Amino acid sequence: MRILLLTGPGGDAQGWGDMSVTRSVAEAVSAAGHEARTAYVETEAEFRRTLDAGGFDLVWSALYHISSNEKFIGRNEEGLWVADALDGRGIPYVGSDSRIMKDMIDKFATHTILARAGVPVPAHRLLGPDDDPAGISYPAFVKPMCESRSVGISDESVVADERELRRRVEYVAREFAQAALVEDFLPGDEYTALVLGNGAGRQCLPGRVRVEEKHYGRHNILRSDLRGVGLTRIHEAGERAEEVAELAGKAVEAMGCLDHVRIDLKADAAGALRIMEVNGIPGLKPLKSWAPQLYTLFHASPLGELEDYRNLIRDIIACAGARAKSFR
Ligand SMILES: Nc1ncnc2c1ncn2[C@@H]1O[C@H](COP(=O)(O)OP(=O)(O)OP(=O)(O)O)[C@@H](O)[C@H]1O
Ligand SMILES: [Mg+2]
Repeated sequence: MRILLLTGPGGDAQGWGDMSVTRSVAEAVSAAGHEARTAYVETEAEFRRTLDAGGFDLVWSALYHISSNEKFIGRNEEGLWVADALDGRGIPYVGSDSRIMKDMIDKFATHTILARAGVPVPAHRLLGPDDDPAGISYPAFVKPMCESRSVGISDESVVADERELRRRVEYVAREFAQAALVEDFLPGDEYTALVLGNGAGRQCLPGRVRVEEKHYGRHNILRSDLRGVGLTRIHEAGERAEEVAELAGKAVEAMGCLDHVRIDLKADAAGALRIMEVNGIPGLKPLKSWAPQLYTLFHASPLGELEDYRNLIRDIIACAGARAKSFR
């Protein structure tokens, strides 16, 4: 297959990573016997021209939407969503369809869908600076409603009273121009699961996310300064592995995700696991991102982790490729 890898200024903030990660993905695509071409698009016009030019069978995008914002995802109320443009032209692509991509980016929408399906999420509310925070229980956790890479997350995200809550909601509105998702604080262990494949071929690969204790500040949370620097490592999920895999599978069913997603979970004060979010474009930095680490945990090849990485990319493309064929 001829595969178009789509990225741009937002590739790191929104998607699998920066240009060096895109090069790694491209190498793995080629190693899997496909043809890889990369398009770095900065504007919607450039994106449309790239699609008009054609010459590919499948698109794999690091971008949810076309944006010049390198720092954070943003809400993109006006702009063009990649999956919408691809759906509009009937072009097959890797990953979930447009509606589901938007539901995954919006953590409030994700929580709504999961809660309705009986999948456990933390108690949550969406708050803007002018909203009344009456009824919130403390400690609470405040984060932007549609970001990634722990952007906007620090020890200050854990708030003990209404004054701290208001300050943090204002910070989220000011810095990220979006509402704050206010959740029950989850003080327990953290897990993540890679869900790979569709239908009967779907696999849920669970792991536990660990950081050396000394790196935590006041709380055992993955602050933005702990992300993307090799400090978070995936370990076996141990006695909770089955539970994590089962919840991840239920979440994917409830949302209708396709091909590959990564699902983050944390235990609440009573020890029960709750889903924090579903990542529609998981990070793909070789050996460092959680998805490749999870894949290695279950599918380690004798040739080592770089070979596992290539196999992961091969498997993701195979899932999307099989769907693309069945639609033709
Ligand atoms: N309700 C919560 N209680 C405690 N910690 C939380 C809560 N929500 C998020 N966190 C912490 O903040 C981190 C980032 O949160 P979350 O996974 O929702 O956002 P993200 O920035 O989209 O992450 P990713 O980079 O995985 O896409 C989590 O890994 C976890 O450590
Ligand atoms: Mg996360």
